[in-house]
Amino acid sequence: MTESGKKRLFIKTYGCQMNVYDSSRMADVLAPLGYEAVDGPRGADMVILNTCHIREKASEKVFSELGRLRAFKQERQAEGRDMVLAVAGCVAQAEGEEILRRAPQVDLVFGPQTYHRLPEMVARAARSAGGHLDIDFPVESKFDFLPEETTGTAAAAFLSVQEGCDKFCSFCVVPYTRGAEFSRPVAAVLAEARRLVAAGVQEITLLGQNVNAYHGEAPEGGKDGGTWGLGRLLYALAEIEGLTRLRYTTSHPRDMDDELIAAHGELATLMPYLHLPVQSGSDRILAAMNRQHTAEDYLRIVERLRRACPDIALSSDFIVGFPGESDADHAATLRLVTEVGYAQAYSFKYSPRPGTPAAVEEQQLPETVKTERLAGLQQLLGAQAAAFNESCVGRTLPVLFEKPGRRPGQLAGRSPYMQSVHVALPEVAQQRLIGKLMAVEIEAAFPNSLAGRLCLEAERQSVAAAASCSGSASSSSATTTRISA
Ligand code: 5AD
Ligand code: SF4
Repeated sequence: MTESGKKRLFIKTYGCQMNVYDSSRMADVLAPLGYEAVDGPRGADMVILNTCHIREKASEKVFSELGRLRAFKQERQAEGRDMVLAVAGCVAQAEGEEILRRAPQVDLVFGPQTYHRLPEMVARAARSAGGHLDIDFPVESKFDFLPEETTGTAAAAFLSVQEGCDKFCSFCVVPYTRGAEFSRPVAAVLAEARRLVAAGVQEITLLGQNVNAYHGEAPEGGKDGGTWGLGRLLYALAEIEGLTRLRYTTSHPRDMDDELIAAHGELATLMPYLHLPVQSGSDRILAAMNRQHTAEDYLRIVERLRRACPDIALSSDFIVGFPGESDADHAATLRLVTEVGYAQAYSFKYSPRPGTPAAVEEQQLPETVKTERLAGLQQLLGAQAAAFNESCVGRTLPVLFEKPGRRPGQLAGRSPYMQSVHVALPEVAQQRLIGKLMAVEIEAAFPNSLAGRLCLEAERQSVAAAASCSGSASSSSATTTRISA
C-alpha cells in the first residue's frame, strides 16, 4: 500500500511508443481498482512487464527481469502479502505458454489486445493459484472498453489511432503479435485528441505500427463518407484550438499518399520530421524482405516530401545482415543513406524471429559480418546526425518543454525536428516553463541532443510561426525507440 492507502503498481515498459501508450492505458484501467503508479518493483502489489518481441535481445531481457522479480515476490510473500506478477505485450502474445513454463512465478500473461480485461484477470488471479493466460485477438476492440485517459496532463502525449499490420515484411513479428490492421474511427480519435488538449496537452503523436495505412471510419454525416486516410485525419486534427504540434509514427513508404505529403507542406502544426523506415538500399534485399517498394521508389517519396516541406528532417530504420545480403547489397544501403542525408536513424543487425519467413532462409549471415556492416553503417549515420545537430548551433528553435533534464538544473524539451533540447535554469523557473513552447537559442550540439538558452526577445514573438515548415530550420535527432513499419 502507498501512504494514500492505494495499492502499488509498477509497470516496466520495453520497446516502442505503442507500448508506452499501452502502459499508460493499463494504469488507467487499474486506477479504479485502487492502483497507484510507483517507480520501482520492490514492495509493489502488482508488477507488469510490458514487453517487446521485435528482436531476440528484447525478449531475452524479459526472462532475466522475471528472475529478479521472483526474489521481490518471495520477499513480499515472506511478509504475508503478495505481488501479482504480469507479463503483457508482444512477448506475452508470442510466447505465452513458454513464459508460464519457464517462469512459474508469473500470475498473468496477456497480449496487447486484451488489457481492457485486466480487472477481471486480476480478480481471477487473486482467486486461483497458477498462471492465467489471455492472448486472444478478441472480436471486440479494447478501445471500446478502455476508460477515458487520465494521463493527459503532460505537454506531449501519444494517441493510438491504428494497430497491427498486414504488410508481412519477411523479418517482422508484428503481424503475428499485434494482429491484422485496425484503424480507430475518426470520431473516436478526434474526441480523444480534444480531451487531451483540454487537459493541457499541446503536442500529440499519432501512433500505429503502420500509422499511415490509417483508414478510419469517417464521422457520421461527414461529406467524405467511407473512410479517411491519415492525411485527412491530420487536417481535421490541425483544426483543434490549442493543439500546437502534431506528429505521427511509424510509416511505411507504400502508404505515403498525396494527401499526406501535401499535409507536410500545408499544416503548420505538423512538425517537419518524419520517421520513414527503408530497411535496405538494395532492391534485391527489399524484395526478399517483401517491402513492396524499391530504393528508387523511396528516393522519389523523399524528393516529394522535400518539395512539400523543404526543411523536413528524415529518420529511418535499417537492418544489416539480412539473409543473403552481399557486400554489394550493403554498399547499396550506404549509397542510399548518402543520397538521402538523415537527421537521425536506427540500425539493427538482422535477428531471426521464430515464425517469420526470413528466419528459415538458408543463407543466414555470420555474426561477424553483421557486426562489421552495422559498424560501417552506424559510422555514416552517426556522422550525418552529428552534422545535422551541428547545423542548428546559432539558430533559434521553438522548444516545447516537457520535463526536468537528466542533470539537476536542466529543463528538457523537443525541437520541431525531435531533437532533445536542454537549457540550464533555476528550479523555480523550471516549473513555470514546463508545458510551454519557448524560443531557444541553440549554443551546442551533441550526438543525440542540443543545448541552448532561452531567447527572451523571441519569447515575445510568436514561436508557433518559427515552427512552420517554411522556416529555415533543418535538423533532428530522436532518442526514443519506435514501432515498426
Ligand atoms: N531483426 C532486426 N531488426 C528488426 N526490426 C524488425 N524486425 C527485425 C528483425 N527480425 C527492426 C526494423 C523495424 C524496427 C522497429 O525494428 O528495422 O523497422
Ligand atoms: Fe508491418 Fe512494419 Fe513489420 Fe513490415 S516492418 S511487417 S510494415 S510492422
